[in-house]
Amino acid sequence: MGDNLVTEVSLRPTEEADLPLLLAWRHNPQVMRYFVDGGETWEEHWRWWQSKPCSFIIRYRSRPVGEVHYTLDALPEVGIYIGETALWGKGIGREAMALLLQELRASTWRHTPYEVVVASVHPDNKPSIRMFRALGFNFERVKDDGYLLFRKHLGEVEAKS
Ligand SMILES: CC(C)(COP(=O)(O)OP(=O)(O)OC[C@H]1O[C@@H](n2cnc3c(N)ncnc32)[C@H](O)[C@@H]1OP(=O)(O)O)[C@@H](O)C(=O)NCCC(=O)NCCS
Repeated sequence: MGDNLVTEVSLRPTEEADLPLLLAWRHNPQVMRYFVDGGETWEEHWRWWQSKPCSFIIRYRSRPVGEVHYTLDALPEVGIYIGETALWGKGIGREAMALLLQELRASTWRHTPYEVVVASVHPDNKPSIRMFRALGFNFERVKDDGYLLFRKHLGEVEAKS
């Protein structure tokens, strides 16, 4: 990854005005290929937004290209997609996820003793598996739904990938 990519990828909190763009991305079968919850309706999308998700727009060269988020349940779980599929394979996903891990650590570390973060990945989703492994996630187990569970110690979040 070149130095430029590190400065050209940034996150900002998702806003209500972003919802139509997010839904358009989520209706792209290429993007949703390895997700269980494809074909989302506007009502479902709106309910997701009303649940106040910890969601961020991924910006590349100042324009929105994808979304990354975490949910705080028994353990924090992260998820990501680059909606602009022409930009896959440039390291943007990896950089955006590294930024999210920093955000997660900064926002929860003092208040909640979360030590690990998890991610569920379809076993055929090679780009995602490579991305999470590159960020230090380790395979833990196959879940009941067949997805692979990866986990990482939050204390191991590095300054930059
Ligand atoms: C997973 C995803 C976010 C990765 O984003 P990205 O910007 O392409 O990520 P990167 O450029 O950092 O690439 C990640 C790795 O996948 C590899 N990769 C990219 N496209 C690939 C492909 N079509 N086949 C195999 N590997 C691929 C890259 O080479 C890289 O591995 P490397 O660092 O060992 O070379 C993106 O592919 C995506 O949005 N996919 C659809 C949604 C999705 O599946 N999200 C994850 C759900 S858990």
